[in-house]
Amino acid sequence: MELEIIKTKTPKQKPQGKLGFGKIFTDHMFVMEYHNGQWGNARIQPYAPFTLDPSTSVFHYGQAVFEGTKAYKNDKGEIRLFRPRNNFERMNESDARICIPPIDVDFVLDALKQLVLLEKDWIPTGEGESLYIRPTVIATETALGVHAAHDYIFFIILSPSGAYYAHGLEPVKLYVEEHYVRAARGGTGHHKVVGNYAASLKAGEKAAGLGYDQVMWLDAKEHKYVEEVGSMNIFFVLDGKVVTPALLGSILPGITRRSVIELLRSRGVEVEEKEVAIADIIEGAKNGKLTEVFGTGTAAVISPVGTIGYGDKDYLVGGGKMGEITRSVYDELTGIQTGKREDPFGWVVRLQ
Ligand code: COI
Repeated sequence: MELEIIKTKTPKQKPQGKLGFGKIFTDHMFVMEYHNGQWGNARIQPYAPFTLDPSTSVFHYGQAVFEGTKAYKNDKGEIRLFRPRNNFERMNESDARICIPPIDVDFVLDALKQLVLLEKDWIPTGEGESLYIRPTVIATETALGVHAAHDYIFFIILSPSGAYYAHGLEPVKLYVEEHYVRAARGGTGHHKVVGNYAASLKAGEKAAGLGYDQVMWLDAKEHKYVEEVGSMNIFFVLDGKVVTPALLGSILPGITRRSVIELLRSRGVEVEEKEVAIADIIEGAKNGKLTEVFGTGTAAVISPVGTIGYGDKDYLVGGGKMGEITRSVYDELTGIQTGKREDPFGWVVRLQ
């Protein structure tokens, strides 16, 4: 497949000051379309809205998948991507779950590199800043029958962004949700399907209304085991051991999650992937054996958790401060991503 490049004639002003997350978009985007059983018409083009018929299937049945990854630029002007192939491979797994045809990973990876290089002046270099990359695929067939669509648009947009949480690296407050569930085994929770996020909004609003930053989800069947948090996977340091919920079919297999496990194990730290009972977490918070909790995600990076709200009580973790393991994982991961530290794992893809 050929990749056409159409450059904008009206470049936008680059942002000044605090960026926030996912609010500003660059001058160009990558688009390709699926018709008659194949992907084609691949192009990098000026960033622009899509015109879609009201009967377009994604509006009705939500057949859509997205990904999230980042490009980093340091003060030497070096540009890096972090494990981008993993995102496109995971996208194909998500696509397969909801009958979207697979993309050619090598082709889109090459297109992404060209897009990021074209937009390199948009990559912010401030502390905690990066160019957030959002690949997405939507069903575009115009028909109301419930079936896998025959037409799709795949696109990649770029957003210069800062910290996901408005308060940066300040420990977050999580609310353990005991009524609503995010995903059940056999459903789509293991994949980056857009509907998972719609299903999470109600509980997210409830938590926000109670003064929490995000929801900590429990399993759908017994409401006993921790699954993940709004936009992150979750790790606990309990009784001196690092534990994280095992991927048993309803938890997103995060690339940051996997990287943190690999990084800690490479240091000889034992990481247990298992069912984590909320009762044990609360007990640990009460008796002081729960010393650290942190979330992991592309957008959220490594996010310390300072408070867990369960029932009508708040439990403080690590005195509400960022713990040692959390800090060292944050420093090492962001160091590798920005080139401040060696990358012994071969995770980064250097573009310039
Ligand atoms: C990411 O971390 O990139 C995600 O996709 C989470 C998102 C909902 C902000």
